[in-house]
Amino acid sequence: MSYSVIYSTHTDNAVKLASRIVTALGDQELVFDGRAAGCPDFALEADTVFVGFWTTANSCDKLIQNLLAKLKGKRIAIFGTCGFGSDQEHFDLVRKNVLSFVDPSTTVAGFYLVNGRIGQGFVHQALESNGAEGEDFHYPNYRRFYQEDAGHPTAAELEACAAWAQQVYRA
Ligand SMILES: Cc1cc2nc3c(=O)[nH]c(=O)nc-3n(C[C@H](O)[C@H](O)[C@H](O)COP(=O)(O)O)c2cc1C
Repeated sequence: MSYSVIYSTHTDNAVKLASRIVTALGDQELVFDGRAAGCPDFALEADTVFVGFWTTANSCDKLIQNLLAKLKGKRIAIFGTCGFGSDQEHFDLVRKNVLSFVDPSTTVAGFYLVNGRIGQGFVHQALESNGAEGEDFHYPNYRRFYQEDAGHPTAAELEACAAWAQQVYRA
């Protein structure tokens, strides 16, 4: 058995999850661990590919959309963080949107999604834009999201991610 961990990240929350996955599974069967940008083709040949994303437009970014399109007939597991809501409804929406990019020939062995802290710089930028019309529609909620997401992913969530990866990989 072999595995790869391939991710896209804006503020490194995905890196935290990715490194816990690699620590949990060890590096003996590891084919590739790194970013989707410039990811070599051999990384996609692993028996299980862990795909990590950050949430934008309540979905995964283009890099992960393109990666998922390339993963045909594969066994994959998807992990990521979101920041604009911590309720089940929001998690379900993000999950549904991300899964819509998975090729029908591919098996999704697991999906792990938790909140990830939003960078302070981003919040400042959003607040400075003063919520002008045409700005990101999430603007009025940035302060709340910033507070809700602080400290995420937590130590417990990283532990749970490691346990999830082991369960997915050994299944
Ligand atoms: C430009 C930008 C857009 C975002 N859009 C969303 C979004 O649409 N929905 C959401 O739940 N979170 C959104 N977030 C929050 C991030 O997905 C969240 O902070 C995540 O943990 C970032 O992961 P990363 O650190 O791996 O990049 C956005 C963050 C940024 C910076």
